[in-house]
Amino acid sequence: MGIEFLKNENIFHLSGGDVSYILKIYKNAFPMHLYWGKRLSDPAISWYLEAPYRRKKLLEGTEPDDPMFLHEFWPYEYPEYGMSDYRPAALEVVGQDGCCISELRYEGYEILEGSVELPGLPSVWAEKEDAQTLKLILKDQILQLQAELYYTVFEKTGAITRHTVLKNLGKDSLKIKKALSMSLDMKHAPYEMLQLSGTALREHWIERRKLGIGETYLESTRGISSHQENPFFALVEKETTEQNGDAYGVTLVYSGNFLAGVSCDMYRSARVQIGIHPGNFGWRLEAGEEFVTPQAVLSYSQKGLNGMSSKFHDLFLNHLYKGKFQHAPRPIVINTWEAAYFNFDHQTVLELAKKAAKAGIEMLVLDDGWFGHRDDDTTSLGDWFENSRKLPKELKGLAEDVNALGMQFGLWFEPEMVSPDSELYRNHPDWCIHINGRKRSQWRHQLYLDLSRKEVQDYIIDSLSNVLSSANISYVKWDCNRRISEPGSEGLPPERQDELLHRYVLGLYHVMDVLTKRFPDVLFENCASGGARMDAGMMYYFPQTWASDNSDAVCRLKIQYGTSLCYPPVMTTSHISASPNHQMLRQTPLDFRAAVSYPFNLGYELNLCKMSDEEIEKISEQTALYKKIRPLVQGGKFYRLLSPFEGNQTAWMTVSQDETEFLVWYYKDFADPEEAYINVRLTGLEEKAHYQAEEGNVYSGDMLMNLGLPIQWKNGDCFYQMWHFKRLDGIDF
Ligand code: GLA
Repeated sequence: MGIEFLKNENIFHLSGGDVSYILKIYKNAFPMHLYWGKRLSDPAISWYLEAPYRRKKLLEGTEPDDPMFLHEFWPYEYPEYGMSDYRPAALEVVGQDGCCISELRYEGYEILEGSVELPGLPSVWAEKEDAQTLKLILKDQILQLQAELYYTVFEKTGAITRHTVLKNLGKDSLKIKKALSMSLDMKHAPYEMLQLSGTALREHWIERRKLGIGETYLESTRGISSHQENPFFALVEKETTEQNGDAYGVTLVYSGNFLAGVSCDMYRSARVQIGIHPGNFGWRLEAGEEFVTPQAVLSYSQKGLNGMSSKFHDLFLNHLYKGKFQHAPRPIVINTWEAAYFNFDHQTVLELAKKAAKAGIEMLVLDDGWFGHRDDDTTSLGDWFENSRKLPKELKGLAEDVNALGMQFGLWFEPEMVSPDSELYRNHPDWCIHINGRKRSQWRHQLYLDLSRKEVQDYIIDSLSNVLSSANISYVKWDCNRRISEPGSEGLPPERQDELLHRYVLGLYHVMDVLTKRFPDVLFENCASGGARMDAGMMYYFPQTWASDNSDAVCRLKIQYGTSLCYPPVMTTSHISASPNHQMLRQTPLDFRAAVSYPFNLGYELNLCKMSDEEIEKISEQTALYKKIRPLVQGGKFYRLLSPFEGNQTAWMTVSQDETEFLVWYYKDFADPEEAYINVRLTGLEEKAHYQAEEGNVYSGDMLMNLGLPIQWKNGDCFYQMWHFKRLDGIDF
């Protein structure tokens, strides 16, 4: 396991778990991709590169310096623009001569224990004993550009991370126009592509489509990773299901503009790529400087989509966020947004907190509207001081009163924004993203602060630090409710304006890095009008995300199902809200709403003061139950069983890490007349083990996984069933 170098063949074999990734340095010059998939016992597969089906004529020039050498027929690891390869390049660099040509040649390699840090960028990391890293060193002699390709392979899962470091070793400046995090050419591509797409209130819906010849790319050009397309995709066989078949997942540890997808050439060889979007991107690399791409994460499994997701979940739970809450129980919160919107004061918040405390809720989060003179969404973003009319005892007094009820106190911010009607804007009208002479388009009456600028980063750090030090604040909901337009910065010279969007993301990471280190006991939650910036980059700093502003339980089935393809359920907050639901106006029973939230990170988002005693009693039962199952749902392994994208039923399950217990949930959103009998086939169990349901029935693992768990039939909408099983040891049947 780890990284093996086959000297005779110039092959590197990266292996971990049941996965092999094999590349070869062809003619000691070009890193070529040979294989990524189920582990091979013999990685000496050089022959595969020159497989007989390739047209002999096209291979006439097989020496790299032969003018007949045609790059477009070879499977590359990091293709550059300018040679005879007409597929999309991973790298485009302009030299002093103004030409965009580079040709990287192999110079050497190193094998390192553990992972390497990416300066200024978040990353999936590994201790020395968990992973090995291969560093390939390549060089373009004319540009004097060195490219280092990093591959970290994880011992347990075979998950692989990749990124590239570009170094200017020459005396002249270079201009990077495109530098993706990774690229690889898979010879055969009979694949379908699966993606998470949507819009606000409809995040992460699964789209699955057949790949044809040509380009199939996902992207964001909005400045953040976006509602529309998440920086994740999977390549699957036609036959791949949740439980079986090849699934190749790719994601990016980055929160800005991205490009991700596949280009299939005339031989159906697929170029798979992900990285910073090259549109409106550029980077001037001065002599001696280096540029680091974000990190790509690759997860392969032959055990279907669940196998692929499990590996992502394992990485993101154990090797991404490092702080105090990594494995700590996440509190049950009540959030004031759907309970009161902008309409609250000290007393009404306290009344809500009292009810919540009685119902077993552990934290009150004061959402939008507590600062400046904000009574609606038209003012005050940037003025991070209390609205003294609403909060006469200040945040300190409110936090103390909430704490006195035995609850923690949390607060909403939207730190990257400024309202034109704010003290901040009046004092610093040049601090927003804009360029003189063009209009400053507003979105929700707000502008983006220019986080590429040091003084703006410092303002956010200082103003949030002041608030967080002023009261006992245990949690921050960090929101971001618009997308970037008219990208321009007064802090950058004309020749560097195309660096703005990446510099923005680097600035944001710096701010989050400082604040999360300065306030290690604060639980930070990520939000961007719901799930518009749900990506592994944000998750490195913030261990949980508000996945959608749509809190309707029926819609949440799809949103949460799709989200779980890449991101673990504990990182996805799911709040029980009012009925009729505020977004969909749909009525659903309270129990059903709770059942949809339990397998994720549970909270509430409704006005408890308007609920009956009977309903509050039910909520107390829900919080008591959740506290009992919390270690399992927040720490366990999650598997999808029935997809809401294929019908009116959804099922999923959570198995404890030690596999001694598990929970299963089944939901039917809308009733069907005269349904067929349904058994839900489980997964992730031991065939020979026996498991006892809470009501006493005992089933064998193979029965539960092959015959399945029979679903009780009940007419009506919003039906659910939930089971809690424990493993019985040493039972002789
Ligand atoms: C965004 C968030 C909501 C809420 C509002 C407040 O829309 O996604 O949860 O915080 O902002 O304005």
